[in-house]
Amino acid sequence: MTRKLYLETFGCQMNVLDSQLVLGQLRAQGYESVTDRDQADIILYNTCSVREHAEQKVWSRLGELRPKKAENPNLIIGVIGCMAERDGINIFQKFPHIDILCGPGELDQLATLVHNAAITSAPNRTRQVALMGAAVRRSTTLDAAEDHLEMLDLSRSISPSDDISQAYVRITRGCNKFCTYCVVPYTRGPEVHRPPKNIIEEVQKLVSAGAREVTLLGQTINHYAFNHGDGRTTTFAELLYQIHEATPDLPRLRFVTSFPRDFTNEALMAMRDCPRICRYLHAPAQHGSDRILKLMNRGYTTAQYRDFLSRAREFMPDVSVASDFIVGFPTETEEDFTATMELVQECRFKNSFIFKYSPRPGTTAIDRFKDDIPEETKRRRNNQLLAAQQQASEQFNRELIGHKVEVLVEGESKLVSRRNTTRSNGIELGWEKPKPKITIQLVGRTRGDQIVVFEGHPKMKGQLINLQITSAQSLTLFGQLPTPKTTPILV
Ligand code: SAH
Ligand code: SF4
Ligand code: F3S
Repeated sequence: MTRKLYLETFGCQMNVLDSQLVLGQLRAQGYESVTDRDQADIILYNTCSVREHAEQKVWSRLGELRPKKAENPNLIIGVIGCMAERDGINIFQKFPHIDILCGPGELDQLATLVHNAAITSAPNRTRQVALMGAAVRRSTTLDAAEDHLEMLDLSRSISPSDDISQAYVRITRGCNKFCTYCVVPYTRGPEVHRPPKNIIEEVQKLVSAGAREVTLLGQTINHYAFNHGDGRTTTFAELLYQIHEATPDLPRLRFVTSFPRDFTNEALMAMRDCPRICRYLHAPAQHGSDRILKLMNRGYTTAQYRDFLSRAREFMPDVSVASDFIVGFPTETEEDFTATMELVQECRFKNSFIFKYSPRPGTTAIDRFKDDIPEETKRRRNNQLLAAQQQASEQFNRELIGHKVEVLVEGESKLVSRRNTTRSNGIELGWEKPKPKITIQLVGRTRGDQIVVFEGHPKMKGQLINLQITSAQSLTLFGQLPTPKTTPILV
């Protein structure tokens, strides 16, 4: 009998990828994935710990499951991902109905944990736990032999029902930066760089299966440098060239997240010279004040950030750049905040993800600094910065009005979708009835990561389409298909 699995994912692209990989492994064990939680024999949450709010969402889900578990003691509940690692076995005190706990560094073991939980019934079932040791969590090096996680990526299976027009491939795991506010180095462990051969083979496999866009993932992706152990090193720039060359049929290659320091000219040149690498950089500045950047342990000054940006634009005048910012970091004065505002007004970011500082247990910042900025001030600064970025984004987007762009169609737009069915009186006249023409609002993404809404055919999903931009807002561009004589015929 196939068992039904419900898996919900929170957090960043790394988690999305992890979920796809574990789903592949569990499918191979006979599990069928379902979208209705109430139908499931096993419920897994792949969790995020980056801000308290992300954890709260999972707590409320787990609270909802309490009566369900009481009703059906054989239901298996698992918490996997960053929150499992950060909270550890403490989570059982609050939620004793959890059966499986697995950190992101141990996900290659998840299939075994699930199997062990499933073969025993309720009263005799023991909890299945796989977490990194505290020593590994706090270190910046990992013995190659300990990198058993490579097996998870190598096990990647693609099923015909998977939508893989856009796919993720990680090139590094973990993070060694230890920014004082951040849980990631503790939840994902030390930085590990994957062998170029494995990365290239994975990208090739995805392209053969139909991927149109591959996004390479890493927390500080431009720090990639694979040491072959014989004196040779493959740098990030070299890896980009190698992937680009090895996948001539891949129309789009992109990568996130870039660390603003140590971004080499060679990597910028690779972006400039390889036509299928998207000219898009997500390079979070985090703050506009040098004093705060230092307290954050970011390791660069605003002058170095500006230098990085102007170098990037020198190589690629059309590069699209996105940033992240934290407002309300401990001790942040109005003057510090104004410096962030000025950076946003000056830098012409395509967009910025803006977050209110959230003190995280286990980080240096929570031990070292009092969370002294009142919630009200954080909210005000958040809104002010959002407004400044919105203005900048709108200006950035407006530059595309009247221009042609290529988008990769992601699917139906969340904006109100309109179905337009053209009826014909062909039947009465004795002709063969033509198929109704259906147009719906679709959403696509440009090479620079801008979102475009347009009216098109549902079958365009997953295709690369050229559009004419007609208008722009801060978060969305609006476009239309070229005039009929150049419209591709879609059947
Ligand atoms: N590796 C990426 C970021 C990963 S976390 C980088 O260094 O750029 C994603 C974003 O969450 C960060 O860029 C930061 O802006 C935000 N963030 C991380 N920890 C946070 C915290 N404790 N409070 C608020 N925002 C936080
Ligand atoms: Fe967190 Fe800093 Fe690492 Fe990004 S670079 S994941 S913000 S510690
Ligand atoms: Fe969240 Fe972990 Fe990603 S904390 S942002 S899911 S690395």
